Amino acid sequence: MKFNIAVLPGDGIGPEITQQSMKVLKAVADRFDHEFNFEEAEVGAVAIDKLGDPLPETTLELCKKSDAVLFGAIGDPKYDNDPSAKVRPEQGLLRLRKELGLFANIRPVKAHESLLHQSPLKRENIEGADMIIFRELTGGIYFGEKSTSEDGQSASDLCTYSVKEIERVAHLAFKAAEKRRNKLTLVDKANVLETSRLWRKTVTKIAKEYPEVEVDYLFVDNAAMQMILNPRQFDVILTENMFGDIISDEASVIGGSIGLLESASVGNENALFEPIHGSYPQAAGQGIANPLASVLSAAMLLDHLGLKTEAETVRMAVDLSLKLNVCTIDINKDNHYSTERVGDFLESVISDTENHIVN
Ligand code: IPM
Ligand code: MN
Repeated sequence: MKFNIAVLPGDGIGPEITQQSMKVLKAVADRFDHEFNFEEAEVGAVAIDKLGDPLPETTLELCKKSDAVLFGAIGDPKYDNDPSAKVRPEQGLLRLRKELGLFANIRPVKAHESLLHQSPLKRENIEGADMIIFRELTGGIYFGEKSTSEDGQSASDLCTYSVKEIERVAHLAFKAAEKRRNKLTLVDKANVLETSRLWRKTVTKIAKEYPEVEVDYLFVDNAAMQMILNPRQFDVILTENMFGDIISDEASVIGGSIGLLESASVGNENALFEPIHGSYPQAAGQGIANPLASVLSAAMLLDHLGLKTEAETVRMAVDLSLKLNVCTIDINKDNHYSTERVGDFLESVISDTENHIVN
């Protein structure tokens, strides 16, 4: 089959990790006889430098007409250290999410058996942990009205949610729970926030449509603690935009490296796939960035296109790289492989399951 994939490498390590994902997708196309038509476009700091806009119109149009978007990373320290900058790379990603209507961000988190020793958390606490975080992505405090008073002495970010916004992501999360272990945990701050009370009310109502799913409610501060104390209790986590941003970074510690966590952002029309990690500018161009989160995001992309066997093949190749320690320095400290070599290994596994290169 033939698909159009928009590729937005972005900033920092974005280009080098995305390169490996494209390599992997090309190997998939060859092996399974598909055609992926990749078209690249700028986003983030590189787009500001080149075109003065973190999300140029041409990039947005390309994404809208593609079957899926493969996204690298975004962010540059020159903006992080300048709070008064009016144009910021992150605005590119946020606007893209909004324009494409990507209301649900899906982040699977697993304690990989071969990486249990990597985590700073105790093996017995994380072994077997396997959850999926559904983060609402186009509402809440990220997108509410923003203002700073004229004298610069106060600022405000408004957090708003509508029932509709809660419902659509909640349905996706409940459906996922039905296919997994039938448990859903809503993470909120309903003891303090009005928006969180609306989330609880709405989710409680929707839960009646999914009688098999057991629903649990946790305040976000407690959830942050439970994530470390007993992550096995979680199956599907449903939460609003900012809480989801925070607890998914926290949850990545369970997986052994943030360089492993993939994500899918979906809506009714479009879908975008990106690692949850940032642009890691200190590592850019050094060949040390872990490409696996991007490659696993590409596997989610294949799932989204209905190519299930192809997606499983990519995951199998990633599992093998973890098992054989064909990994970058964040995982393999003593004898690490470069970003590109990890990509080459995956490519060889996918192309020919018998004769993959290890050395
Ligand atoms: C993420 C990132 C983004 C977010 C940033 C880059 C705007 O941290 O995808 O988790 O906060 O959503
Ligand atoms: Mn984040």
